[in-house]
Amino acid sequence: MDYKFTESIASLAPSAIREILKYSSVPGMISFAAGNPSPEAFPIKDIERITQNILQKNPITALQYSITEGYGPLRDTMKQYMKEKWNSFGENDELIITSGAQQVMDLMTKAFVEKGDTIICEKPTFIGSLNAFRSYGANLVGVEIDDDGMNIDSLEKALNENRNAKFIYTIPNFQNPSGVTMSLEKRKAIYALAKKYGVIILEDNPYGEIRFAGKDIQTIKSLDTDGLVVYAGSFSKVLSPGMRVGYAIGDKRIIAKLTVCKQTSDVHTTALSQMITDEFMKTVDFEKHLQNIRAIYRKKANLMMDLMDEYFGDKITYNKVEGGLFIWCKLPKQVDMMDFCTKAVKDKKVALVPGTAFLINENEECHEFRTNYSTPTEQQLIEGMQKLGELVKEI
Ligand SMILES: Cc1ncc(COP(=O)(O)O)c(C=O)c1O
Repeated sequence: MDYKFTESIASLAPSAIREILKYSSVPGMISFAAGNPSPEAFPIKDIERITQNILQKNPITALQYSITEGYGPLRDTMKQYMKEKWNSFGENDELIITSGAQQVMDLMTKAFVEKGDTIICEKPTFIGSLNAFRSYGANLVGVEIDDDGMNIDSLEKALNENRNAKFIYTIPNFQNPSGVTMSLEKRKAIYALAKKYGVIILEDNPYGEIRFAGKDIQTIKSLDTDGLVVYAGSFSKVLSPGMRVGYAIGDKRIIAKLTVCKQTSDVHTTALSQMITDEFMKTVDFEKHLQNIRAIYRKKANLMMDLMDEYFGDKITYNKVEGGLFIWCKLPKQVDMMDFCTKAVKDKKVALVPGTAFLINENEECHEFRTNYSTPTEQQLIEGMQKLGELVKEI
């Protein structure tokens, strides 16, 4: 049977990254390519206790169909949390629980983007979002990132040239993959441009709570007085990605439409996961839990950066990170990045993600690759970096 997939879906998986990642499952491979939370960051005992409690006291709610908007108590918990801690839930806002933040990108595109409409993204950006946008036939326009976030002149140029832009997609904290955090000044500038051009901002913030150095910066949503920002939050990196609990906050009218869109996707997010998340927020000291996670990531990130200083010397440069899960590394111009990543995975059994995976056009020139420090053990970090060091000597 010759399957005829839609044009938008047929072009989805970037080929270069697929080639490299197919080696990732080889036995003995040290993977710096994943983006998973650290296995030791899961609060397993708390989740075991909470799950038992729910199944003893409230099993039918956990097992029955539920409403699309999400489990009421968790929605209330999150509205309050986002209002009190981040000033990011306003009078005209509503909140919907989603199946991970990934679903927010999908629902937003479904709700706002006709085939050929433009979405403005950072360059580079998270591949999962790019693929969600691509799956609806969006026209993707990339804006370079400076050390303090999106380049404002390029953003204005993109907005000017693409009057059919529906939203600006940004990951303001510990951006995946670049690790860059947007300054407050830039957050304000982007908000002002969104207002000027009448374009929504989709603020994707799965890493904001895992800052292990420096000071928090307020969300773009907290600047929003015009119903312009839709905020995507997630429990994946602070509790468990397997539970698939995320949320969107935005103007009531937008959230109502996202709810209709979600109804045709998965009806509702898993009730048991939502109940566990709510009980966790209510019965566990969440700030203390965050501090524990941050300590794990601080240690691993510092270890990886120290090893990079030792083994990369000045041949490979990287952005120092203050949070999140990734380090973005830059090879010298004369070194072929794909060749380096291929040698790393084939000859040294160390998997990296080629930077092209995060570009709108994967054939564009790219000298960067992404490493992750949260998933490997400390021993694997040391061994993997030693092996990369051997490769660096050859360049
Ligand atoms: C920037 C960014 N947004 C969204 C997601 C999706 O997360 P979730 O597990 O909440 O769907 C990820 C996951 O890695 C991510 O890096």
